[in-house]
Amino acid sequence: MVSTMSIHRRLAVAMLVLTLHGQVHAGGIFGGHEAVPHSRPYMVLLERYMSDGTTKYCGGFLLSEDFVMSAAHCEAKSFTVFLGLHNVHKMTNEVQHITVQQTFPHKDFNISAMTNDVMLLKLSSKAKVNNHVTPIALAGQDNGSLPKSCIVSGWGRTDRKNEMMSPKLMEVNITLIENENCARENAYCSVGETGPRQGDSGGPLVCEGVKAYGVVSSMFPPEPSAQTLYKFAKISDYRGWIISTVKKAVMQI
Ligand SMILES: *[C@@H]1O[C@H](CO)[C@@H](O)[C@H](O)[C@H]1NC(C)=O
Ligand SMILES: *[C@@H]1O[C@H](CO)[C@@H](O)[C@H](O)[C@H]1NC(C)=O
Ligand SMILES: *[C@@H]1O[C@H](CO)[C@@H](O)[C@H](O)[C@H]1NC(C)=O
Repeated sequence: MVSTMSIHRRLAVAMLVLTLHGQVHAGGIFGGHEAVPHSRPYMVLLERYMSDGTTKYCGGFLLSEDFVMSAAHCEAKSFTVFLGLHNVHKMTNEVQHITVQQTFPHKDFNISAMTNDVMLLKLSSKAKVNNHVTPIALAGQDNGSLPKSCIVSGWGRTDRKNEMMSPKLMEVNITLIENENCARENAYCSVGETGPRQGDSGGPLVCEGVKAYGVVSSMFPPEPSAQTLYKFAKISDYRGWIISTVKKAVMQI
């Protein structure tokens, strides 16, 4: 298991480097279906402006009027977050777009192991909460059993041939597996061909009704196969970090 994990890690690194260099190898929800419009009002599309001039995308989710959570590997030079969005081709007046004032990637984020892949974003102005824009509650303390009825959603690529983002929010069911390596890395994991792809990074793993249990982090190998292992940063392990980071951010002002 240890040796497969290290191969997995090398592939994860390779995949990330490809993305960082802008050679489109990004992905989206594989094997899912379109979400009912606005049924996931905590979903955020992160438009990322990179230092090389390119624009990339990640998912994220609203924690409060002015904080969004995402993955640390979604860091960029600057961002716009889109809230209340379903179809990117239909940017109605109701879609809110807000810039990011400050980012708080986890200081122990390890890009080669893809551990501690969590980041908080402080918005430059408060989101207007309504039917289409609502924060999501976070999972409570871990009690040792895996959460059930999990779903991930995102605007990432949806099939092998198409390199484009999905214009509409897609979602797919996820069944978590017991895995010691994942638990040691403060992560939940799932396995199989269907799941999130790279454009979905930073989005929430929503389980047990409507609670965020994880953050979409990485998958190995990068091409979807029956053996693909998906990793989600486990939110219950980062509750202390989230609370102290928000407190610090608010005190700075
Ligand atoms: C990051 O992870 C790699 C692979 O597990 C490990 O070898 C390295 O020591 C880690 N780096 C830090 C700074 O912890
Ligand atoms: C433990 O947590 C899981 C997942 O959050 C939940 O489904 C289960 O009901 C909890 N069990 C108890 C005894 O609280
Ligand atoms: C996905 O999960 C939901 C609720 O957890 C369930 O109602 C639905 O039937 C599942 N869909 C598939 C395709 O398994």
